[in-house]
Amino acid sequence: MKLPSFCLLSSLLMGFLAIQLITVVASSGGGGGGGGGGVASATTAAPKKYNAMFTFGDSMEETGNICAASSNKTELDVLTCTHPPYGESYFGKPSCRWCDGRVVVDFIAQALGLPLLPPSKAKGKDFRRGVSMAITGGTAMNFSFYKSLGIQDQVWNHGSLDTQIQWFKELMPSICGTEQSCKGFLKKSLFMFGAYGGNDYNVQLLEVGLTPEQAMQHTPKIVTAIANGVKKLIALGAVHIVVPGIFPTGCLPIFLSLFGDAAGEADFDQAGCLRTYNRLTEYHNTLLRTQVGALQRKHYNSTRLMYADFSGLVYQIVQEPEKFGFSAPFEACCGAGGGKYNFDVTARCGMEGATMACEDPSARLSWDGIHPTEALSKVIAGALLRGPYCFPPILG
Ligand SMILES: *[C@@H]1O[C@H](CO)[C@@H](O)[C@H](O)[C@H]1NC(C)=O
Ligand SMILES: *[C@@H]1O[C@H](CO)[C@@H](O)[C@H](O)[C@H]1NC(C)=O
Ligand SMILES: *[C@@H]1O[C@H](CO)[C@@H](O)[C@H](O)[C@H]1NC(C)=O
Repeated sequence: MKLPSFCLLSSLLMGFLAIQLITVVASSGGGGGGGGGGVASATTAAPKKYNAMFTFGDSMEETGNICAASSNKTELDVLTCTHPPYGESYFGKPSCRWCDGRVVVDFIAQALGLPLLPPSKAKGKDFRRGVSMAITGGTAMNFSFYKSLGIQDQVWNHGSLDTQIQWFKELMPSICGTEQSCKGFLKKSLFMFGAYGGNDYNVQLLEVGLTPEQAMQHTPKIVTAIANGVKKLIALGAVHIVVPGIFPTGCLPIFLSLFGDAAGEADFDQAGCLRTYNRLTEYHNTLLRTQVGALQRKHYNSTRLMYADFSGLVYQIVQEPEKFGFSAPFEACCGAGGGKYNFDVTARCGMEGATMACEDPSARLSWDGIHPTEALSKVIAGALLRGPYCFPPILG
C-alpha cells in the first residue's frame, strides 16, 4: 500500500532538498500556551527562576543553526525555511525556523524573561543567557547507525545528540568559566533536551522504507541514546532538564498524505490518525518516560527531570480542535499540495508556487505539514510551563 508514494519520496530524498523537509517531522516543540505568551507579560511578570536556557534537538527547535552553518547561497536557497512565508506571523521574514513565527523554545524563553536563544553556530553572540544547539536533521543515534542501514544522505549528519552535547561542552568555558563554576551556574539553568527521536523514525520510515513495526525494533536503542544524553548533562551539572517525547506521527499531514491514501478505513483511528504510526510514537514515548522516571529516582535528591508529553497534548487537540481555537487539524497551512492534507513533497511550503500561507495560520496546527504553527507552539509551551502534559511542569 505504501509503495507508490514511497518510491516517489525516496527518489526525491536522494537530493539534499527534499530531505530537509522530511527531517523536520520529528522533534519537539512547545510554545507558551497561556501564559507568558505575550511579550508584555514576558518582560513584566516573568519569573526570574532561571539564569539561562540551553536547547538541543532538531528542526522543531531550530533557531538558526542550519543557516549559520553555511554561507553558501546555493545551499541556503535549498532550505525552504529561508523563503517566505516562513516567519510571516512574528518575525515578518524568514528567521531560519521551520514555522510561521516562534517555536516552542522561543515561547518558553520569553515566558522566563530570557532572550530568544541564538544558535550555537552564530558568530560573535553572547551565550551567557542561553544558546541552542538544535539543528535541522538532528538525530538521537549517530550517523554511523544510519550508514549501517544504507543511508548516505548527509542531512542526517548535521549534528546528532552526541555531537550537540560536544558543541555545548566546547561553549561552556565562554558561558560559565571553569568546570567548578559551571556546576554552580548550570544548576540554575533550564535545559530543553529534544525532543530527539522524530528524525530517527523519519529516516527509517521515509528513507529506509521500514514499516512502523520494523522501526519499533530500534526504539530501545534510540531511547537509551536519549537517556544516556540526559546522564551526560547531569554529569556536566544540569539540574532542571525537560525531556520531551515525540509528536504523534500518525496525525501529521506528511504521514497522512504519504501513507493515508493507500490505507483502509480500519487503519485510521476515530480521530483520523494512522494507527500503526501512532503505535510507534506511543511505544517510543512510553519507553522514554519509563527511563526518565528511573533516572529521576536515581538522582532524586539533586536533579529535576521533566517529561513533556507532546503527543498526549497534540492528540487531545486533534480530537477536539475547536476547544483549543483550531480547525482543520490535518490540513497544513502552507504548501501547494491541495486535498485533505495540503501536503505534497514536490510543492512544499516555501518552494516556487507555494509561497502563500492559509488565511489564518493561528487556527491551524500544522504549518508546513511537518512542523507546528506558531499558534500550536504557543499552546505547547503553555502546557510545558504550567502543565498538564509536563511532569512536573517547568514552573511547577
Ligand atoms: C555552493 O554549494 C553548491 C552546492 O553544494 C556547490 O556546487 C558550489 O560550488 C558552492 N559554492 C561555493 C562558492 O562554495
Ligand atoms: C556515537 O559515537 C561515539 C563515538 O564513536 C560513541 O562514543 C557514542 O556512544 C555513540 N552514540 C550513540 C548514541 O550511539
Ligand atoms: C544525593 O544522594 C547521593 C546518594 O544517596 C549522595 O551521594 C549525594 O551526596 C546526595 N546529593 C545531595 C546534593 O544531597
